[in-house]
Amino acid sequence: MKLLTRLKSAHRKLSQGESLFTVPQSKSHWDKQYSTGKWDYLLEGQPNISIMANMINKAARHSSRIKVLDVGCGNGALFHELNLSKIDYTGSDFSSVAIDALTGCDGRFINAPVDDVSQLDDDYDFIIFSEILYYGDYREWLNKYRNRLSKRGVIVVSMYKTWRTTLIANWISKTYRIQESFIVKSCLRRVAWNIYVIR
Ligand SMILES: C[S@@+](CC[C@H](N)C(=O)[O-])C[C@H]1O[C@@H](n2cnc3c(N)ncnc32)[C@H](O)[C@@H]1O
Repeated sequence: MKLLTRLKSAHRKLSQGESLFTVPQSKSHWDKQYSTGKWDYLLEGQPNISIMANMINKAARHSSRIKVLDVGCGNGALFHELNLSKIDYTGSDFSSVAIDALTGCDGRFINAPVDDVSQLDDDYDFIIFSEILYYGDYREWLNKYRNRLSKRGVIVVSMYKTWRTTLIANWISKTYRIQESFIVKSCLRRVAWNIYVIR
């Protein structure tokens, strides 16, 4: 039965010209999720977030100042792990509930969908796509944001491991130069993440 439902959904997506690898969700879906606290647990710390935060904090220690853009920043899981003394942080998300909760914190928060880059700069040292690529047209998104990198800048992608994200990762490895990659596991939650540093 489950298989039949999945096949029907795959058929519907394909017939509407949508990608099988993505599962877009609406703004109101996310607003509701944040209002009901469904993602509060992320703020208790996640191994994939810690890897990215360490990478950024280390780069900041060795620079005079760096610029970070966190696309789909959600409730600020990454933001809260950054040492902001040498980091200019911008987070964007289309959930106004998530962004409102961060307003007043020491960063710039933009309430906008990923497709809208009108308020962004074009010299970020790190552009983070943490657990968001599978919610939209990841090819278009990555290609668009690539133009927003500084000369030394990199895009960092984190995706929990599923068949869907493995296929996205295959596309990334064919299209981008992977500078570094990590696999992180949470024994407790039985989840693994792939993290790619690409350019
Ligand atoms: C699973 S959460 C990840 C949050 C955060 N990046 C993290 O790793 O903790 C996905 C986030 O992407 C945002 N999002 C999903 N689709 C989006 C879109 N088309 N434009 C902007 N934000 C989007 C959601 O509102 C949500 O905050």
